[in-house]
Amino acid sequence: MALVHQSEEIAPRELKPALLELDGISRAAVEAHYKLYQGYVAKRNEILGALDGVDLASANQVYSELRALKLDLTFAIGGIKNHELYFEHLGGGGGDPGGAVKQLFERDFGSVDAWRSDLKATGMAARGWAWTAYDWDEGRLFNYIGDAQNTFPVWNATPLVALDVYEHAYFLDYQTDRASYIDAFFDNLDWDVVNDWVSRYQIPR
Ligand SMILES: [Fe+2]
Repeated sequence: MALVHQSEEIAPRELKPALLELDGISRAAVEAHYKLYQGYVAKRNEILGALDGVDLASANQVYSELRALKLDLTFAIGGIKNHELYFEHLGGGGGDPGGAVKQLFERDFGSVDAWRSDLKATGMAARGWAWTAYDWDEGRLFNYIGDAQNTFPVWNATPLVALDVYEHAYFLDYQTDRASYIDAFFDNLDWDVVNDWVSRYQIPR
């Protein structure tokens, strides 16, 4: 018996023009992310097609194949989600947030500066990502760490800030100076977008 209904394909979202004119993050760097993102979308479509073809009746033979496909699926879908967040909330003027986001940072980190310092340090410690996410079970924000597209998000948390610290994110513009790239990331955040997410997902304050 084969798995069914898995192969509906998706297309990459278009890159908004503002992303090609960021302050301190070059067009070439954004295009590097976007090319990888397109690859994750293609890989996601390809893997779901391949899963449709897996014959579960011969399960003993397919466990290793299934394992490889399912691991790759988490990497591809993680890469899609992470980059869609990243692209969507850049293109703004940075600075300190207002509104609900400011209240959430003050409640859960003490201040906006404390949130920023913690996310920056988390990004310096990570191999791939650092996210600010609202954890619905804990009832608060955390700055979670990620080493790859598929590690280490936790269940039942809604990401609100996604800081890409893979080498492709900073090496073109800053070589090994990741800290300066992270500062540039903060300078380009669009807080209106993040406040819209807080409202859309009804994050409690
Ligand atoms: Fe990236």
